[in-house]
Amino acid sequence: MLVPSCRKAVVVWIALSSGILRAAQDRNPFAGDPRAAKAGEYEFRINCALCHGLGARGGGRGPDLTRAQKKFAHSDVEMFQIISNGIAGTAMPANGTNGQGVGMTDEEIWQIITYIRSQEVKTKATSVGDAAHGKSLFYGDANCSLCHMINGKGGRFGPELTSVGGARTPAAIIDSVRHPSHRLAWGLTEATKEFPQEYETVTAVTADGKEIKGVTLNEDSFSVQIMDQSEKIHLLRKDRLRSFHESRESAMPQYGTDVLSDKDLNDIVAFLISVGAK
Ligand code: HEC
Ligand code: HEC
Repeated sequence: MLVPSCRKAVVVWIALSSGILRAAQDRNPFAGDPRAAKAGEYEFRINCALCHGLGARGGGRGPDLTRAQKKFAHSDVEMFQIISNGIAGTAMPANGTNGQGVGMTDEEIWQIITYIRSQEVKTKATSVGDAAHGKSLFYGDANCSLCHMINGKGGRFGPELTSVGGARTPAAIIDSVRHPSHRLAWGLTEATKEFPQEYETVTAVTADGKEIKGVTLNEDSFSVQIMDQSEKIHLLRKDRLRSFHESRESAMPQYGTDVLSDKDLNDIVAFLISVGAK
């Protein structure tokens, strides 16, 4: 009689204590283990490379994770929390919310961390340009602030760019300026939506022949909300329109080297990084 209930108690005790251990784990059990790093690389490719790029070197939607200098994930435990919970208000999703089924186990998360640490380059990122000059271009000659806001200053027609320097690689930012239509910006907080919103360009002609051109803010089957370049918002019923076209041609002008030199663009990127990496 005593034996089974005792065994049950032991099982409960193990379940409880391992739960406590998991929650309170304060170090990476696989730190420095090359086999765990290998397993982590595989997990990374499935779950993270979509945004952070292959080799964790950064992609269109997520920062370079090979920089030893991190914004949030200084310790392994902090990194564990970020991967588990995501970063609120950004595209960085919580574990299991990115269409990946039930998400990764704790063990898999530690393996990914081991992999990321194994890819880190210890040298400090060298500054690509003159941030002060980039700032004066952004608000001045290059006219970026006409459409983009940084820390509350600038226009609203294009996406807010305060965090873009921390969230995207220099190459991705440069590509957005040289070839805006390559990859339209996604709303930074849209990762967990089933259909992410992109900055598509729309042209609507109303029943009385007025043409409205801009970017979509919101759209459903019956109505569309458009912001035009003067930041005026139009709410239109689709069945009342004479025509309605969406296009993946960016509403941002393409900046060729004739209007913006490589050096000036590098200075603007340096400015965006100096703001976004804080
Ligand atoms: C949908 C895109 C997306 C996916 C998928 C994604 N991330 Fe992120 N992640 C981001 C963005 C964007 C940021 C930067 C947020 C910011 O600082 O504005 C970020 C930040 C991070 C950071 C913090 C970096 C720092 O400097 O502190 C870590 C660590 C990280 N991600 C790891 C991962 C791992 C590991 C995975 C896969 C399990 C993953 N991310 C999947 C978009 C993504
Ligand atoms: C006439 C308005 C306009 C001007 C001027 C403009 N942009 Fe844009 N920009 C947009 C719009 C709209 C988008 C969203 C569509 C897209 O991704 O191309 C965008 C997207 C971007 C993106 C991508 C953001 C992301 O989250 O991926 C970057 C980076 C960017 N712009 C930088 C710049 C810089 C730097 C300048 C100045 C050299 C500039 N823009 C000038 C309208 C503008």
